[in-house]
Amino acid sequence: MSGFVVWFTGLSGSGKSTLATLLGAELARRGVHVETLDGDEVRTFLSAGLGFSREDRDTNVRRIGFVAKLLARSGACAITAAISPYRAVRDEQRRAVGRFCEVYCACPIDELARRDAKGLYRRALAGEITGFTGVDDPYEEPEHPDVVVHTDRESKHESLARILARLEALGFLAPTDAAADARTPWHGGEAPGHCVADAARRAALEGAPSVELSTSLASTLDAIVTGTYAPLQGFLGSRDLVAVLRERRLERGLPWPLPAVLPLPADVAAGLAAGATLALRAQGRPVALLDVAEVYGLDVVPPDLRGAIAPFAPAAEGASFAAGRVWTLDERSPRRDSVFDTPLALRAALTALGAANTAGLFVDGAFDRGHEHAARALLETSDALVLLVPEHHATLPLAARLAAVEAAVAQTLAPERVLVVVHAGAAAPCGEPARDALLRAIVAQNHGVARVALELDDAASEASLAGAAGTLAVEIEPLAPAFHSRRSGTVATTRSAAFDAAHDRPIDRADALARLSARSLPDPRDVRDEVARALLDAWGAT
Ligand code: ADX
Repeated sequence: MSGFVVWFTGLSGSGKSTLATLLGAELARRGVHVETLDGDEVRTFLSAGLGFSREDRDTNVRRIGFVAKLLARSGACAITAAISPYRAVRDEQRRAVGRFCEVYCACPIDELARRDAKGLYRRALAGEITGFTGVDDPYEEPEHPDVVVHTDRESKHESLARILARLEALGFLAPTDAAADARTPWHGGEAPGHCVADAARRAALEGAPSVELSTSLASTLDAIVTGTYAPLQGFLGSRDLVAVLRERRLERGLPWPLPAVLPLPADVAAGLAAGATLALRAQGRPVALLDVAEVYGLDVVPPDLRGAIAPFAPAAEGASFAAGRVWTLDERSPRRDSVFDTPLALRAALTALGAANTAGLFVDGAFDRGHEHAARALLETSDALVLLVPEHHATLPLAARLAAVEAAVAQTLAPERVLVVVHAGAAAPCGEPARDALLRAIVAQNHGVARVALELDDAASEASLAGAAGTLAVEIEPLAPAFHSRRSGTVATTRSAAFDAAHDRPIDRADALARLSARSLPDPRDVRDEVARALLDAWGAT
């Protein structure tokens, strides 16, 4: 592996040195030769005598960049940690080095002034130091950082994990050795392949026909390219589709419940054949392309099976579909800063945490007392708990649901052992509990957790999972509905306490959702007030 530079930038006290040290240790553990150029150290040796004028800072940054480039050229990883406040000279270093990963440590200045470990903000604000970055000297935020870490609200390990995941995605760092990797294998056994379109594919887009994706299809595409829906690498062909509808399996026998088809408008279908390239647009913007392997009509599906496509795609008479592998047009940069949003990023985090015994829990709607009960029970017996938050929900916006999760984690759980990941895909994509339960098990497995708690609402769901048992690598923990047990004075489920219909009160998820939708507080026995307030506040702010 050849060398590279990890360039930390951010205000004084924003966590650059802390993360540089953690990253250095982790890279060394992985056998990478690392050298760190820490801002304060550089100023003692390499840049002794330089002050904080614009010229001096630029000189300082250029010196650091020069040494970092030499180190990278000789095969090492150079980590730099200086404020490096000016964009132009940072970008100059990126161009000079090439293999460069810019990590922006973002932290509000109020928080830095509050922490003020060196007492410098107080002095700068009092006018005792002038030209202090962020106070009376500018800090120019990176326009296209490779990673943003929010050191005021995420743990060091979360930040570290996201940096590692980015270095892996950039190809600077080999993904951790599969043998040493305690994470659960991907569904189907293989890690998802590279899915970013190369130059030749991009060129083939010129003049290619295109289709506009619905929100649900765009989310399915996202789930495919991120590995959330591994082993899928594209939209289903006719033989897979029939097998999925008939037996919830792909043609080769692997359990798969979701009829992930790409419906075509009639005019596009008419001119399309195998071998063509099809552009996929979301909100008018090209986001991916499809190597068309097959174009087929609904007639390949026996009429009695067609109903199962309906929740997913219109299955009207005369409908046509295109199948084939998809390639994205953008190198995915993280869409959300403070939570994980791909299985790869989460897997890197689990490795960085050294968590082998991990549990997953899906959080639909608001984080309620039932989720809390399940989360606590899972944490008692795992190294880490992953809360899987679906990107889409019929009523509650994602930002509001995440705010509720964040409040609940901070107040009722052990935050350093809880990771939150947003996963692509519609909230109830199959519209059939038995299929959705199986899909959730697979999504959880693809995120690398060892076991997942699932609510199995009906016998069909249980049977569906039992049928897949031999081929799923994730363990399923059935979740029973939670209630307030008067006798024990706690929240319980029928697995831990007898339900007494006369005195016990089931947690009423439907009522909580109805009240939240009306922007009012639910019964605190359903959703804690602090959690509901966090949700409503964030909703108001969106
Ligand atoms: S840089 O701007 O040239 O990249 P560098 O990271 O080397 O800065 O040094 C920043 C450190 O110097 C701060 O963490 C702080 O401890 C100290 N310092 C002293 N004066 C200033 C100032 N005017 N602005 C910023 N940092 C200062």
